[in-house]
Amino acid sequence: MVLRRVSRSVVLVVALASMGACRSKATREWRPEDHDPGGAPPTTATASAGESDPLAAARALFAAQCASCHGTEGHGDGPMAAMFRPADLGDPALQSARSDEELANSILRGRGRMPGFAAQLRPEAAPMLVRLIRSWRRR
Ligand code: HEC
Repeated sequence: MVLRRVSRSVVLVVALASMGACRSKATREWRPEDHDPGGAPPTTATASAGESDPLAAARALFAAQCASCHGTEGHGDGPMAAMFRPADLGDPALQSARSDEELANSILRGRGRMPGFAAQLRPEAAPMLVRLIRSWRRR
């Protein structure tokens, strides 16, 4: 009986102690990073980019496979542009001259000095890339 009462009060003390610990954590001194966590906005922007930008996957793919020649925005100004003289993909004349299928075919089979990418790309990738390229069209 006595033993049980002791052990119960031990439990009570432990419980109080941990509550105290919780409370002291909750009421610790305010720090500037609580209000303005330096890295937080970019982190959330990155996390939500995939959801809010339907072309995010295409952009990443383009950056990895195509930007070396075409530049990240497709202007034809990538580091290898001098050697390959790639098309400016935002050019309205080029955009009007080609259907989506023709652009996809150029991507998959290659065109002029551009190699074909059929072996590197998943089937859904070419239409995705075409949509991205269409979004770069200048009036
Ligand atoms: C090695 C350099 C190089 C790479 C890498 C490259 N391209 Fe090209 N691309 C070119 C060149 C050069 C042209 C111009 C071809 C021509 O008309 O002579 C071109 C043209 C194009 C065109 C216009 C085709 C047309 O029908 O006129 C599209 C669209 C295109 N590229 C998309 C892509 C995409 C998407 C990727 C990545 C999967 C990519 N390119 C990777 C060099 C490259």
